[in-house]
Parts: sequence; C-alpha cells; structure tokens
Amino acid sequence: MSMKKAAVIGWPIRHSKSPIIHNHWLEKHRIQGSYEAIAISSEDLKAQVRALVEAGYCGFNVTAPHKQAIIPLMDFVRAEAERIGAVNTVVVNPDGTLEGRNTDSFGFIINLKENSKIFDSKKPIVVLGAGGAARAVVYALQKDGATDIRIVNRTLARAKELAAMFGGTSGHPWELLPDLLKDTALLVNTTSLGMTGQPALDIDLNPLPKTALVHDIVYHPLKTGLLQTAAGRGNPIVTGLGMLLHQARPAFQAWFGVMPDVDADLMKKVLA
Ligand code: ATR
Repeated sequence: MSMKKAAVIGWPIRHSKSPIIHNHWLEKHRIQGSYEAIAISSEDLKAQVRALVEAGYCGFNVTAPHKQAIIPLMDFVRAEAERIGAVNTVVVNPDGTLEGRNTDSFGFIINLKENSKIFDSKKPIVVLGAGGAARAVVYALQKDGATDIRIVNRTLARAKELAAMFGGTSGHPWELLPDLLKDTALLVNTTSLGMTGQPALDIDLNPLPKTALVHDIVYHPLKTGLLQTAAGRGNPIVTGLGMLLHQARPAFQAWFGVMPDVDADLMKKVLA
C-alpha cells in the first residue's frame, strides 16, 4: 500500500500538538503514513492547498488563522462545519475534490462525557466567550439536548449574535455573571483568558454551586487559574487536553481508516 500523507496547516504552526498526536497513532497502528506541520500564510492559502492536493495528500487539519478562510476552497462542507462556520479537517476525496468537516464539537462533547458522570445537558449551562471556539461548544451542547445555554461575553453584541443562531441559548454581558452562575450546572471557558501569555480569567466563583462541573478548553497551562480555583472549592473539573486529543480522532479515521483511542502514552507525549 502506498504511503498516505496528511498535515496540519496554519500560521504560525510550530506550536501545534497535532503532529505528536497523529504520529503516535500512525506508529501504534503500524500504518504507513506521515503527518507534518506546514506553515502557510493567508496570502498563499489557495495556491498551497492546491499544491497539497497535487502532492497527493489525503487530507489536512486547518488551524488559526485559516478555519474560516478555507471554506470557499471546499467542494463540499459538512452540515456541522457549515453551522459552526469553521472547518478544522479537510478530506481529499479520491477524485481530488475537497470536503470540509469540523471535529471540534465532537472532541468537546466526547471529552466532557468521558470525564464526567454528572454531566446533564438539560441543566443550566454558562459558556464564557462568543468566538469560533464558543460556536463549536454551543453547537455540541445543543446537539446533545441542552435547552438553557447562557452565553456570556465581553462584547455583548457577539453573545447575542451567537445566541440568535442557536435555539435554547441566550446572550448576556459579563456583569450578570454572578446572577447567572447561581443555578449553573456546567461552566465552560472558551475565551483565551487564562492561556499562557494571555491575561488571567478573573471571575468570582462564589455564586457557583459546588456541584457544578467546570471545564476550561484552554490546555496551556493544563490547570488554568479557573480550574485551580474551582478544584480548590471542591467543584469537579475537566481540563482542555481531552478536547484537543478527541477532536483529532475522526480526522485520523477519515484519512487512515482506523478510529484511534486516547491512551495514557499519548497524554504523556502531548504534555512532555
Ligand atoms: P476563538 O476562535 O479561539 O474562539 P475568537 O473568535 O477571537 O477566538 O474569540 C475569542 C473570545 O475570547 C471572544 O469571546 C473574546 O471576547 P470578545 O468577543 O469581547 O472579543 C474573548 N476574549 C479575548 N480576550 C479577552 C479579554 N481580555 N477579556 C474578555 N474576553 C476576551
């Protein structure tokens, strides 16, 4: 069988964990294949995507800043990617056509369920942030049956805009957080706050019930300030690493034909 090639494209790209993840699975499943990180600037996106197809790549992941810009270059876009408004996985079909998918919502919900027995999508949920990551999270929660998702964002207009796109959601300003947290069962941070090099996420968790699940999709650092505070007061927590690892699984399956698992060795490699 010929060697299958896949990649992740973005700008910058050297910090991407995706090569570690996919190469771990290629080795584990003894698949003849490769997965590399390729830096592609916005100006070169169209020409470089064409070059990847011509070079025989079976697909690639797409990361910042191309998740939206890649959409017009697709021949087909799957429903979930269309709804989320972002493509993070491209499959090159045997006839050379390109199919855009989004596996972030899958990664989010599978990770949440694997890490928590108490998660119940029917209870009130607060989502912090209204950007691209929030859209994938809200899409996943709604698909899972959530009916009360409170989107809280610094820029209220963006929270309202996102809420208008999905039923069972509402948009709120940051100042209302203390009130909104009172009966919340799941709090998810989708903003970049708390990430290494970014400002801290400074919120008062006191109104939040101690039984509420707290999930940060930021994974660098693994234990963000939010998760440390939540764990310190006894809330169950979920780190962002699992979402990163689980979103990679359906992409690997689409390109290499095997649905891989998230194992302890992979976790160790990604955290090293
Ligand atoms: P992504 O695709 O990763 O979600 P994004 O679309 O740029 O990135 O969204 C970033 C999110 O983090 C937004 O909700 C943003 O709030 P605004 O819509 O008000 O910009 C939020 N965010 C980033 N920096 C922030 C800060 N210093 N304070 C509050 N929210 C912040």
